[in-house]
Amino acid sequence: MASAEENEIIKTLYQHQFGFFMSKIMFTACELGVFDLLLESKELLSSAVIAERLGTSHIGMQRLLEACVVLKLLRMERKDNEGLFGNTDLANLCLAKSSPRTQYNFMKFLSDIVYPGSQYLIDAISTEERLQRFSSAMGDAWSLHGQELLSAFDLSCFQVVCDVGGGNGALAKEYISLYPKATVTIFDLPKVVEGAKKKSVSSEECRISFHGGDFFKDPFPEADLYILARTLHDWDDDTCEQLLTKIYKACKPGGGVMVLETVINEDRTGPLVGHIRSIMMMLLCDGKERTQSEFNALLNAAGFKEIQSKKRNNYGAIWGRK
Ligand SMILES: C[S@@+](CC[C@H](N)C(=O)[O-])C[C@H]1O[C@@H](n2cnc3c(N)ncnc32)[C@H](O)[C@@H]1O
Repeated sequence: MASAEENEIIKTLYQHQFGFFMSKIMFTACELGVFDLLLESKELLSSAVIAERLGTSHIGMQRLLEACVVLKLLRMERKDNEGLFGNTDLANLCLAKSSPRTQYNFMKFLSDIVYPGSQYLIDAISTEERLQRFSSAMGDAWSLHGQELLSAFDLSCFQVVCDVGGGNGALAKEYISLYPKATVTIFDLPKVVEGAKKKSVSSEECRISFHGGDFFKDPFPEADLYILARTLHDWDDDTCEQLLTKIYKACKPGGGVMVLETVINEDRTGPLVGHIRSIMMMLLCDGKERTQSEFNALLNAAGFKEIQSKKRNNYGAIWGRK
C-alpha cells in the first residue's frame, strides 16, 4: 500500500494533471447553457431532459453533468435509480448568464481565446511518432500505481503472463519486479510492439517479450494469467464482451484475467478523475469508465467466475477465474 504521504502527493499530481480539463468542463457547461436552464427551472432535472432541452447527446450530457457534480458546480439527487440535477449556490451566483454575479462573459473569453492559445506555451515536441508518445504517456502511470495494484491479489502462482494491449511494457516491468520468477509477453499492435522493442534494453527485460498482433483476430500467446490494463475503457460494452470472451477461451482452467481500470463509484458521485477520463474516452474513442457492477457484468457474460475486486487509489484490480 502507498503511504498516506504518497497518496497526498499523487492527489496533488492529479489535480495539476487534470486542471485544464476541469476548467474546460466548467466552460462547456456554461456555453451549453446548463446553468441557465437549471437556474430557470424550479425543479431538478434528469440528464435526458437537460440533453433534450439543450439539443445535445444524452450520453455526452450525462458525463458532463456527473463531472460537474464532483466539481461542485451541480448537485445530484437520486430518485428511482435516476440522477436528478440542480445548480449549486456557486452556479446560481456566478455561472448562468442571468446570475446576479455572472462570470459568463469572462468564462467565454477564457474558453475561446485563452484556452486554445495555451497549447502554444511549449513549442510542440514534434519529432517522436504520435503512437509511441501515446504508448509511453500511458505507461507512466504504472510507476505510480502498478505494484500496488498487482499486489492487491497474490499472483505469485502465475509465472507465465500475457499483458493484452500491454503497450510499451511499463506494467510488465512492475510485474516481473514484484514476481521474480515470472515472464511476461506483451501482446499489442505490431507498430506499438516495434517501437517498444527498440526501447527495451535493460537486462531484466529478457523476462519480457513482445508479440505483435490484433487482439480481436489473432490467437493470444499461451499464459496462466492474462492482464487487461486500461484497455476495456477504450471500447463499448459489446466489444469488451467480445474481447473478454476471447481471453476466457484462451485461459486454462484455474487461470484467469486481471483487469486494471479506473472504477466509478456505484452512485456515480466520483472520483473526479474517473469522470474526467470518461469524458476523454468520449473524445478519443467509443469507450468509457465503468462502475464495479458494470465490470462484473462484462466478466460474467464472458464466462469468468469468482470475480473479486480491490480498489487502490482510483484504480480497481478486478480478478476473474476460469
Ligand atoms: C489505452 S492503451 C493501454 C496500454 C497499457 N495497457 C497501459 O495500461 O498503459 C490500449 C492499448 O491497446 C492496444 N490496442 C488497441 N487495439 C488493439 C488491437 N486490436 N490489438 C492489439 N492491441 C491493441 C493499443 O495499442 C494500446 O497499447
